[in-house]
Amino acid sequence: MKLRAVLSFAVFASALAAFAGTASAQDCSVTVDSTDAMKFGKDVITVDKSCESFTVKLTHSGKLAENVMGHNWVLTTADNVQPVATDGMSAGLSNNYLKANDNRVIASTEIIGGGEETSVTFPVNKLDQNTVYTFFCSFPGHWTMMRGTLAVR
Ligand code: CO
Repeated sequence: MKLRAVLSFAVFASALAAFAGTASAQDCSVTVDSTDAMKFGKDVITVDKSCESFTVKLTHSGKLAENVMGHNWVLTTADNVQPVATDGMSAGLSNNYLKANDNRVIASTEIIGGGEETSVTFPVNKLDQNTVYTFFCSFPGHWTMMRGTLAVR
């Protein structure tokens, strides 16, 4: 009886471990918070290479409106951050501070204000596994403080 109990526990434990392994392999999304202090809650995002697509959910836990402290989540190569942000400034809030059809932008959300949330889903095969990408907020002046890296592993 005792042995059987130990064995069934072992089966249960390995089933749990298998479930946990599967669950983490399929976690193809991340939530990034943004604040009235002009900060993202994450500065490194790792995308599992087994993911077909990846979703970034952007939340804004502050109180300020989108025209004062708006935030979006924009993904480009590191070299394109500044030029995309500069062009975005001219594009204005109505265009989410991004030039229309900017092909340097790999993925982007709309601009949100305090208390709001949004998300973007993009195919992982758009990303090179040997490149470290940069995500940032394209609201004027925010890209220097609100930025981080994203890589496929
Ligand atoms: Co911002």
